Amino acid sequence: MKRVATNQVSTVGNSSNRFKGSFFPVGMVESKVRVFDSLASDYDAWFEEEGRLIFASEVEALRQALSLLPKPWIEVGVGSGRFAQALGIDIGLDPSSKLLEMARNRGISVFLGRGEEMPFLDGVFGTAFFVVTLCFVDSPRETLGEAARLLKSGGKVVLGMVFRESPWGQLYQREKETGHNFYRHATFYSHAEVGMLLKQTGFSIEKVVSTLFQHPGEVNHIELPRQGFSADAGFAVILAGKASV
Ligand SMILES: C[S@@+](CC[C@H](N)C(=O)[O-])C[C@H]1O[C@@H](n2cnc3c(N)ncnc32)[C@H](O)[C@@H]1O
Repeated sequence: MKRVATNQVSTVGNSSNRFKGSFFPVGMVESKVRVFDSLASDYDAWFEEEGRLIFASEVEALRQALSLLPKPWIEVGVGSGRFAQALGIDIGLDPSSKLLEMARNRGISVFLGRGEEMPFLDGVFGTAFFVVTLCFVDSPRETLGEAARLLKSGGKVVLGMVFRESPWGQLYQREKETGHNFYRHATFYSHAEVGMLLKQTGFSIEKVVSTLFQHPGEVNHIELPRQGFSADAGFAVILAGKASV
């Protein structure tokens, strides 16, 4: 495992990184939420700079699912609200108040909180979106369990995932291992692991769409999504329905 020396903080300007942050020695005690708060502006700026084509390809993939989704919609881990705004999601939850402020400025109704313990009554939403968020929550099982609780019967979850087996997942995993200050807080799951988590929390997969077949550092156009899972895709959308009881 590669590590940077203690006290060494190097900036990351790699276009493949959603987070331009810095590298810290693995093991440094640091609050995840504080990290999201402190780099909120950098994170948000990425979407208009290096991340522009990646974001547009990911939005195209997410749009493939929209017509099948019951309302109201919520995005859990809404961040700065870029995806919510592009997809027409009007409610968002996030533990970072800095990011929520940006989401609010994009017209999203925001709630401060964690996916593991959401401040909503049972059965109030039709669809819960998680866009590059399941890898950052403390417990994906509890979070998906909470999603099942707050969804109505017939409700759906939509997961935007960077899978561990993809070239992008492998890059982010390497950066996590070298102490990247955002990715060190992420756990990258495989497609099979997420399928298992969904099953265990009462969801069944109805549709999978893949995009971002261009490799990290080589993105030069917006991609059209392909149906089904592919380990070569840097971003996949899973639509899963809440099993009826
Ligand atoms: C990679 S960002 C994704 C933000 C947004 N969905 C997007 O794609 O731009 C991950 C988000 O997860 C949020 N997050 C971290 N821990 C969380 C938790 N336990 N529950 C819900 N969201 C969490 C972070 O604050 C951050 O906004």
